[in-house]
Amino acid sequence: MKPKEKLQFPKSFLWGSATAAHQVEGDNINSDWWAWEHSQKRLDFLRAHKLKPEDFCSGIACDSYNRYEEDFSLAKHLGQNAHRLSIEWARIEPREGVFNETELDHYEKVLQSAKYHGLTTFVTLHHFTSPLWFIKKGGFAEKFSVGSFTKYADMVSKRLSEYVDFWLTINEPEMYCTHSYLFGIFPPQIKSLRTTLKVVNNLAKSHNTASEVIKFNTRKPVSMSYHLSDIQPHGFLGNIAASLVHYVSNEFILNKTIAACDFIGLNYYNHHHVGLFGKRHHSHSGHEHNDLGWGIHPEGLERVLLNLKKFNKPIYITENGLADAKDVKREKFIKDHLYYVHKAISKGADIRGYLHWSLLDNFEWEKGFRPRFGLVEIDREDFLRRKVRGSALVYAEICRKNLVEY
Ligand code: BGC
Repeated sequence: MKPKEKLQFPKSFLWGSATAAHQVEGDNINSDWWAWEHSQKRLDFLRAHKLKPEDFCSGIACDSYNRYEEDFSLAKHLGQNAHRLSIEWARIEPREGVFNETELDHYEKVLQSAKYHGLTTFVTLHHFTSPLWFIKKGGFAEKFSVGSFTKYADMVSKRLSEYVDFWLTINEPEMYCTHSYLFGIFPPQIKSLRTTLKVVNNLAKSHNTASEVIKFNTRKPVSMSYHLSDIQPHGFLGNIAASLVHYVSNEFILNKTIAACDFIGLNYYNHHHVGLFGKRHHSHSGHEHNDLGWGIHPEGLERVLLNLKKFNKPIYITENGLADAKDVKREKFIKDHLYYVHKAISKGADIRGYLHWSLLDNFEWEKGFRPRFGLVEIDREDFLRRKVRGSALVYAEICRKNLVEY
């Protein structure tokens, strides 16, 4: 057997995991998602599909609103030195213009705890959820959104600056606008290209304006977490189709916002083959799939990373992970992806950190609690007990040694 190579990562590389408020905190009652999860339309849909509403309502989620100390302590004991979390706009500004001091105090305590546990912090301001009042007024489809989001960013960045090392304004603007406004999957379930384009524009403006304010208030680096996929050609005129899809899905928003970024936050999950006659849904190359049927394509991560070199900014991988309830694929998934991260570094990409999605099994949006993305299992039958998965221990070794044996 070939001896394993030791792939050393750069000094001060950040190793950690990521979560998002609505997916882990619980009781996010003033948000648009909470309202949607409890709406008659949603309940009727679940009943019609014979699905239990309790599996698809975020409810108490992982109760991380109260158990954050325990979660950060776990991350630390798992060798991690960085953590990405989001703060919930709907808690901080539950009614327009009314900022809740108690919730700001809460997040101050949360971030103090992260620091106490030695974690470098990445804080996202908007991770898919919004205050209900904001969505009722039209949300990012309307121009007022830029001012509202910037005001929230101003308030929060002034208040929490001391404990935040990296700011992320908006998570996956690409997914947010398509899932909420084009495909009608996420609330408010609109299906309109015209509205989607308005949302794209206002998200970009919100990022550009808010990042100025955050930088002025905090002097810390700011980015977005972009959802970028590896797009490969297949079939007749595949190159043209792939370039077009790459431009629309990866570069359209990136180009509008990158100037206001100090680094690039990258979320990598997908790889697609596209041709003139559409997307190839099933890989012909014998790749594995995760529990959700998504293909596992670690080599695509290298291509995505190398494509980002042209922007000349440091890159942090702010999400990468898989649904794998039995934890049979996660160890290999992590090592394979890190192999390609290392390869991209050796080809000159300035990659400075890797945050696995996710620290905990959590509320996977419209798919509910079934998909299990956690390094740590949440036992929903046993008071949300945290149970460390085997792959988390392997990842811990990688984090501690700053190297992957491959
Ligand atoms: C999102 C996460 C989500 C993950 C897995 C990402 O697109 O940012 O919130 O849980 O994908 O679907």
